[in-house]
Amino acid sequence: MTRPSGAVAGEGVVQLAVENVGKSFGGVRAVEDVSCVAEKGKVLSIIGPNGAGKTSLLNMISGFYKPDHGRITLDGRDITSYAPNRVAALGIARTFQNIALFRGMTVLDNLMLGRHVRMRYGVLSAFLYWGRAQREEVEHRERVEDIIEFLKLQDLRKQPTGALAYGLQKRVELGRALALDPQVLLLDEPMGGMNQEEKEDMARYILDVSEERGTTIILIEHDMGVVMDISDRVVVLDRGRRIAEGTPDEVQRDPEVIKAYLGAQKAA
Ligand SMILES: Nc1ncnc2c1ncn2[C@@H]1O[C@H](COP(=O)(O)OP(=O)(O)OP(=O)(O)O)[C@@H](O)[C@H]1O
Ligand SMILES: [Mg+2]
Repeated sequence: MTRPSGAVAGEGVVQLAVENVGKSFGGVRAVEDVSCVAEKGKVLSIIGPNGAGKTSLLNMISGFYKPDHGRITLDGRDITSYAPNRVAALGIARTFQNIALFRGMTVLDNLMLGRHVRMRYGVLSAFLYWGRAQREEVEHRERVEDIIEFLKLQDLRKQPTGALAYGLQKRVELGRALALDPQVLLLDEPMGGMNQEEKEDMARYILDVSEERGTTIILIEHDMGVVMDISDRVVVLDRGRRIAEGTPDEVQRDPEVIKAYLGAQKAA
């Protein structure tokens, strides 16, 4: 695939490309002409001060917001106007900045629900094709059990998620996204509100997903230590605009980036 102009990145295979995308809400320009590419199997981080437009960009990729202009492609296919369920069916999974689990449901059921777009038999067809649907259920259950084991949630599978500690709920959210067997995983502050040890665990899980499954990861994260540790490339947004793109080392030394962060600190 050819690289969209302006969307600088490394030398890998482009999996997801965002080209000159913009979105306004009333008078607020949340995202202005942003371009970036996520390479297959790599970790791309999106960083920037509060209100920079990070979540809005993720919402456009996952189909929750429709861009005012610009284009988003997955493996060259234009997905700009796809609804969230279609984007998910193509293998783009996400977690939310604020935990969005079904609190009354168990860990296991939340993960099974995360798999529903992979299921061919709904309730009615399950009734009609009982044998096939049952076999499918067993396969899905096996996959979900693998994820439970990977995330070390074995002892919690029957617990309602609402009763779990915050860090564990974040881990279940990751599990629910993984249940989709995604090609691309969008993570909106998966370590937000965590202590250092929980952050390190989460960073390890993200790297394992990337390395073992070759999943492409787009990560929004505020903790610079984590970002610098696990990212292949970093895109920096400030007030809706892309102000830098490069390796963690490059963006860290970029005067524009330093200025944006110092400015944000002064304003806080
Ligand atoms: N649905 C919406 N309606 C109105 N304004 C919105 C909406 N979504 C985002 N915005 C505005 O767009 C701007 C960018 O917000 P966004 O949530 O994308 O930033 P962010 O970089 O994720 O910030 P944070 O680090 O605080 O999560 C903000 O000014 C925000 O108020
Ligand atoms: Mg956000």
